[in-house]
Amino acid sequence: MRCRACLRACRQVAEAAGSEPLRRRVFFGLKPDAPEAIIKATRRAVRAGGGRPVKPENLHLTLAFLGALAPAEVAAAAAVPPVSVGPFELELDRLGFFARSRVLWLAPSVPPAELLELERGLWAGLEAVGFTRERGLFRPHVTLARKGAAVAEPIKPVQWRAHKLCLFESLPIERGVRYARLDVWPL
Ligand code: 2AM
Repeated sequence: MRCRACLRACRQVAEAAGSEPLRRRVFFGLKPDAPEAIIKATRRAVRAGGGRPVKPENLHLTLAFLGALAPAEVAAAAAVPPVSVGPFELELDRLGFFARSRVLWLAPSVPPAELLELERGLWAGLEAVGFTRERGLFRPHVTLARKGAAVAEPIKPVQWRAHKLCLFESLPIERGVRYARLDVWPL
């Protein structure tokens, strides 16, 4: 595990050499085993919202967004897990809309204790090695579509058994993004 001083030193070395290391946009999250179930349950709502749907392979629940990181910072983040809470059930039963970012989402109306503990434990580990958590409440959700409108469609709840924690890199592709899995840990 790298400490805050190591991260700072790495940055200073890179800056002194005049070469800012290549930064990668990374985040910790959960990925459903069966994204089709989410797609099926929300198809009508996503159509009604008229936004840009998230592709099935990109559906996920973000636990900790870390932003654009230098290689040493990616390594430091990857050294933080495992945060072992055990596998748990998520019931995604609530459709909602973030007006500012125009994001249509699906979420558990009652987030399970394990999910909250996982997010807290992960951030405790990340903060211990120098990462800073953005202020604000953790609002666990799965983004369904972007740049659409709010909708009021009834949703058939989707069950999701979460059993692995992943570290992802967000990569720009021709039409959007792809989330490459950098690492995975059992819960
Ligand atoms: P989302 O979880 O609401 O969809 C990769 O970019 C993921 O990290 C996306 O899923 C995205 O939002 C989330 N994300 C992107 N920028 C963020 C930010 N500034 N703060 C928190 N999460 C962010």
